Amino acid sequence: MSVEIVAGDITRLVVDAIVNAANETLLGGGGVDGAIHRAAGPDLLAECRTLGGCPTGQAKITRGYRLKARHVIHTVGPIWQGGGAGEARLLESCYRRSLELAAEHALGSIAFPAISTGVYGYPLEAATEIALGVAEDWLATGRAPARLVFVCFGDAALATYRRIWAARARA
Ligand code: APR
Repeated sequence: MSVEIVAGDITRLVVDAIVNAANETLLGGGGVDGAIHRAAGPDLLAECRTLGGCPTGQAKITRGYRLKARHVIHTVGPIWQGGGAGEARLLESCYRRSLELAAEHALGSIAFPAISTGVYGYPLEAATEIALGVAEDWLATGRAPARLVFVCFGDAALATYRRIWAARARA
């Protein structure tokens, strides 16, 4: 059972599944969604077209195609509206549903980007607390996937993840 916090491009990770911060159409976009579709190739979009979209807070799984990861788990984070629209509950659901889906497919490792903290505007600190809180709870269950990787795109995110993870370990 491990939690790793790394900096870099999630599309390059060798894990069983990388998580995509998608939108409800699942038909691609910018940010990490765009990077994953570019790296996976057009077959990913072709499979996504068969899924009929995905509600915010839920997750769906596809193959990884040209990615090193065998699967992509597409989840849709909440758009930040100030915190009073159930955003925290929905973001937590993204992480939990992605882990449940990985468990259903007996995956051993999963990598997450910082869901909703880009275009969707979720404050990084609050989003990181949610992500790492779910990670702690999951590790306590002893269930697969046992290797959780949090991929930070930039030094600010890396520092925030590492600071919050260290603070939780001391608590
Ligand atoms: N690897 C890892 N993390 C990345 C990468 C990458 N290649 N590219 C971007 N990120 C990071 C961003 O820096 C941010 O911290 O992923 C996090 C999520 O940002 P977005 O990709 O903007 O996703 P999100 O905020 O959830 O907004 C989703 O954006 O791209 C569209 O189609 C997507 O409509 C959806 C919306």
